[in-house]
Amino acid sequence: MTSTLFRGGSFVTWADEPVEALVVEDGRVAWTGTAASAPATDEVLHLSGRCVLPGFVDSHTHLVFGGDRAEEFEARITGTAYAAGGIRTTVAATRAASTQELLARAQRLAHEALRSGTTTLEVKSGYGLTVEDERRCLEVARAITPHATFLGAHVAPDGDAAVYTSLVAGEMLDACAPLATAVDAFCEEGAFDVDQCREVLSAGKERGLGVHVHANQLRPGPGVQLAAELGALSADHCTHLSEADIQTLRDADVVATLVPGAEFSTRSPYAPARRLLDAGVLVALATDCNPGTSFTTSIPFVIALACRELGMTPQEAVLAATLGGATALGQDDIGHLRVGARADLVVLEAPSPTWLAYRPGVDLVHSVFKDGVAVR
Ligand code: NIG
Ligand code: FE
Repeated sequence: MTSTLFRGGSFVTWADEPVEALVVEDGRVAWTGTAASAPATDEVLHLSGRCVLPGFVDSHTHLVFGGDRAEEFEARITGTAYAAGGIRTTVAATRAASTQELLARAQRLAHEALRSGTTTLEVKSGYGLTVEDERRCLEVARAITPHATFLGAHVAPDGDAAVYTSLVAGEMLDACAPLATAVDAFCEEGAFDVDQCREVLSAGKERGLGVHVHANQLRPGPGVQLAAELGALSADHCTHLSEADIQTLRDADVVATLVPGAEFSTRSPYAPARRLLDAGVLVALATDCNPGTSFTTSIPFVIALACRELGMTPQEAVLAATLGGATALGQDDIGHLRVGARADLVVLEAPSPTWLAYRPGVDLVHSVFKDGVAVR
């Protein structure tokens, strides 16, 4: 197998020691060190001053859906508030779409994400909401990523959440668990209450699925506390947090996955990232890509928002979009470029990752490598 030496630029690896050169072999990072001590390799890639980062890990997306909600977005611009019930519009369009159509759309979005530097994606179901449609959505998710999350508890399709919850935790989970690596639930007024979420998430956990919770998105609530109680990998959104919620996240080692693209698009207050970071909570940044609240696949956009609106430093934002996302997915060989990591990397047409926020809206990605192979 070919070995390649990357040199002549700067590296963000999240290793303790500074790195001036890096060798990729067999799809993994095989060596890092000083330029002077670099080993002989088959190929040398001169970076010409560019910057190398770990590929982004987008740990929260809803890429499988039919239709769009441009009209709903336009209404928000003129003052209509976002509500959980909007999900049902996408559910109708998703059920009406063929599996081929859903797959083609999801693949287009995954390709768009890859071009912007995302080398790992989590993808949720949640717009099917029947046993058959949720299974179909997870089949599509699995065709594009190993990280597929069952979100049957997204909203009750007919409004009766109690009856629907039993279906989700029973027959629907039976059909979907073999295709999923994790389970999620939307703990929110207008979606599911804390007991209903506990029923679904515990049933998923018993089957060995990782747990995520859509928590405290639209108002304060019990979602974060439930995430801690169940030993969840992450509590996602975390927009409305009390001091007790923040302490709980830290003490229970639950990742707070922040999705500022959703607040941007719904014109809502941003999550208290500074309070979380200052308290020592592990933070991830993700796109939440979905047609209702955040129709973007761009982690560079999310990093720019995190710096401008959440008060995160560029270093904190890039850490959250790489190692933070990996931790939220329970993965230890992505999100960093220490020796042994998967060779998933992004080369920026810029001298440092600060430029992702400094030059918002500009495509700064020079190239992308997935398992050591150039994909852009
Ligand atoms: O993460 N909050 C729940 N789910 C999505 C929104 C889904 C929708 O509006 O279609 C979210 O924001
Ligand atoms: Fe979401």
